[in-house]
Amino acid sequence: MEGSKISKKKKQGDEPMALDVRIAVIAGTGVYEPDIMTNVRDETVSTPYGDVQLCVGNYRGKALAFMNRHREDHSVPPHLVNYRANIAALKKLGVKNVIATAAVGSLNPDMQPGQFIFVDQFLDFTKARPQTFFEGGASGVLHLDMTEPYCPGLRKILLQAAKSLGFTAHPAGTYVCTEGPRFETPAEIKMYRMLGGDLVGMTSVPEVTLAREAEMCYATIAMVTNYAAGISPTRLTHQEVVDMMLQNGENIRKLIMQAVALIDADRTCRCQRALDQTSPE
Ligand code: HPA
Repeated sequence: MEGSKISKKKKQGDEPMALDVRIAVIAGTGVYEPDIMTNVRDETVSTPYGDVQLCVGNYRGKALAFMNRHREDHSVPPHLVNYRANIAALKKLGVKNVIATAAVGSLNPDMQPGQFIFVDQFLDFTKARPQTFFEGGASGVLHLDMTEPYCPGLRKILLQAAKSLGFTAHPAGTYVCTEGPRFETPAEIKMYRMLGGDLVGMTSVPEVTLAREAEMCYATIAMVTNYAAGISPTRLTHQEVVDMMLQNGENIRKLIMQAVALIDADRTCRCQRALDQTSPE
């Protein structure tokens, strides 16, 4: 993650560029609202893994980075997202708290379309994605604890935000991450249910684990867009996922901004000391 460069391009406003950005939003399918910020600027952050385009702005006096995981035109499929570059870019900006959004299919009848889940566990069924910043040699070897992959502190803030807005939200759930880009077979969904999965999506891993390697707090707002294959009475389409996200866009936007408002940019957490292997506490 060393050697990254940031180039700044001013879009509006005259305030000096804030590079001390502590909070970031990684927006998934159907969510991209950098305009909720003021003084928004486009940024290109160069990292050893590639350049990353994102926006930086202000929200209620806090500097905030806003990144679109699939790019604005949804041109990057989940298995080709440059997860390492994205997380390295946020790290370079100084980000310590990441709120990600994810469209998910539901395997759990209690988790219904339109509802939010602040996932606490994952099952990783990805197959061909770079999973770590630590590739041996000069970068070293790391075996990180994953007892609590999603930051419990940020999840609590998300729940508080959802409650204050009157939204139906589940405080926990197990996210099954598939390689994609295809949807699952009903047989796969049956297997994932038997293994304890609640939701299925294609992006949370390795984003969540790289964020931990980068010593950032990371939590996901999963929003159910459909029942998973074989549970849904109809065949799945990407369009229905996008439509559902857009239909709930206003709620997601409100939830993100309420959560950002509740995050103390200077909060500290054990996620931010994840590489300190000497104190398991
Ligand atoms: N499967 C995988 N990813 C998804 C789904 C699904 O059913 N819905 C939204 N993202």
